[in-house]
Amino acid sequence: MATQNKLWAGMAKETAHQIGTPLSSLIGWVEILKTEDIDPSITLEIEKDIERLQTITDRFSKIGSVPVLEEHDITAETLHTYEYLQSRFSKQVTFSYHGTKEPILVMINPTLHSWTIENLVKNAIDAMKGKGSLDLQIEQDANHVKINVKDSGTGISKNQYKSIFEPGFTTKKRGWGLGLSLTKRIVEEYHGGKIKVLHSEIGKGTTFQILLNKKVQ
Ligand SMILES: Nc1ncnc2c1ncn2[C@@H]1O[C@H](COP(=O)(O)OP(=O)(O)OP(=O)(O)O)[C@@H](O)[C@H]1O
Ligand SMILES: [Mg+2]
Repeated sequence: MATQNKLWAGMAKETAHQIGTPLSSLIGWVEILKTEDIDPSITLEIEKDIERLQTITDRFSKIGSVPVLEEHDITAETLHTYEYLQSRFSKQVTFSYHGTKEPILVMINPTLHSWTIENLVKNAIDAMKGKGSLDLQIEQDANHVKINVKDSGTGISKNQYKSIFEPGFTTKKRGWGLGLSLTKRIVEEYHGGKIKVLHSEIGKGTTFQILLNKKVQ
């Protein structure tokens, strides 16, 4: 198992590394394009795509290394990712937010945290077949912050609550079954928190919950 993990981590790192070279050259090309008489909205779109590729390679390069954890405002980091996803998905999915806008400090790696939110949101949207509602909730008590991602999708039966977190478990035609196992690993092993299905009802929807420890002041 350990060897296999190392192999996966190595492949992830190597992929990130290999994408890095053409990516830096693309960044250079865009700078050149910007000096030409070209519609700026075009170069802006290319820049957005480049930024997205940088996020992806950054994530892959972090797999398997001991990530650097720093003090970050979990509310702002989570909302930033959520709003980005909202802008990318169809208007058929209604995104809402219920919770604090206050800063809450947690020791995380923001690149990895954003990946966990993205995996949960993507699964939620898949589960509602592209149409429905999604609600993000952030609550806190004295020591913890709870991030709930609630969807109006197909639901998950109780006997699958455990298996969905196993690598390779998927019910999708084009799924890899990697999203939740990776999310669990990031939340539990890297960020020292917990993830679970908080509630689910067949035909009604599901709520996933990430629980993290607040930074001791
Ligand atoms: N919000 C949800 N509602 C209903 N079922 C879900 C939800 N999230 C996950 N699942 C179930 O758990 C399975 C595993 O999810 P996971 O994200 O690990 O893999 P995947 O989405 O199938 O593929 P990948 O994420 O690798 O593209 C899904 O195939 C689906 O059956
Ligand atoms: Mg998934």
